[in-house]
Amino acid sequence: MTFGVRPGPIFPSTRLRRNRKNDWVRRLTAETKLSVDDLIWPTFVVEGSNQSQSVDSMPGVYRYSIDILVDQIALAEECGIPLVAIFPQIDDRLKHSDGREAINPENLLCRAVREVKRQIPNIGVLCDVALDPYNSDGHDGIFRDGKILNDETLDILGSQAIVQAEAGCDIIGPSDMMDGRIGFIRSILDQNNFGDVNIMAYSAKYASAFYGPFRDAIGSSNALKGDKKTYQMAPTNTDEALRETGMDLFEGADMVMIKPGLPYLDIIRRIKDSFKVPTYAYHVSGEYAMLQAAVQNNWIDYHSAIIEMLISFKRAGANGVLTYSARDVAKLIGRDQYR
Ligand code: PBG
Repeated sequence: MTFGVRPGPIFPSTRLRRNRKNDWVRRLTAETKLSVDDLIWPTFVVEGSNQSQSVDSMPGVYRYSIDILVDQIALAEECGIPLVAIFPQIDDRLKHSDGREAINPENLLCRAVREVKRQIPNIGVLCDVALDPYNSDGHDGIFRDGKILNDETLDILGSQAIVQAEAGCDIIGPSDMMDGRIGFIRSILDQNNFGDVNIMAYSAKYASAFYGPFRDAIGSSNALKGDKKTYQMAPTNTDEALRETGMDLFEGADMVMIKPGLPYLDIIRRIKDSFKVPTYAYHVSGEYAMLQAAVQNNWIDYHSAIIEMLISFKRAGANGVLTYSARDVAKLIGRDQYR
């Protein structure tokens, strides 16, 4: 062998394994880091007191009554998680075809947000703007004669954003995919003195098979008439995601989201490269369910798998991830630490 005759970055003078030889050098050369600051914890709330109802399709996830939810979110805040999302499962008797409970300032979600913000002011609260938890047909917009009505839906979404902002919600997350909703909601928030309330737009939200367990959790799956393909995006499309995101930013979005997560890492990368704005991924219920199913069979190690998944979002360019594993991961990493 003639080692050393050719200078430059080739074997054997270059040996990439030198930078992998032990833990400290691997940490020293890590290109991507995950911390609790990257975690957003989605939670579910139900009526009652002292309730922790498990969600069958999401092992480890519960619907909490407001009293317990506050305790659980307090633990998340202690771990250093910056933001939680709260989704309501309301009583079926309150569901109407016009989703009117969405704009009741005393609805379950608004009461939950008020109580969380009163007791834990130092954690951010994100609320979905969309009608699906409130609509008797399970759709995100108003459904009439087999169609989702875009502009009629905007009016009620605007009012929904206002009751949520009044309750203390810090970030409004329009997840409805109606056209023009970001501009509409931004102007209505501004007119009502909620200029400080952020908008995290679900900009690239795909019509996905991975939302099933979430729909179980909020009790909308049995009701859902048809599918959401006339408003959520087709998984085939990438350019369209850029167009959606560009419009949302132009209309006033502060942050954008891509959803689902792992099947759409390419979309995260393209959006981050194109717009260079705060970009988030939603590692959705179906992704969580798949992981937990494998974990329960001892086929996959939960902790190393979830860390690897979250790192992949960071590598793709996400600034943070909504994940049902947020608290588990926060405990694992520790406050002010990195992985
Ligand atoms: C409602 C909404 C959905 C999710 C978040 N907000 C479901 C849907 O669009 O049908 C899914 C989240 C998850 O699956 O974890 N618009």
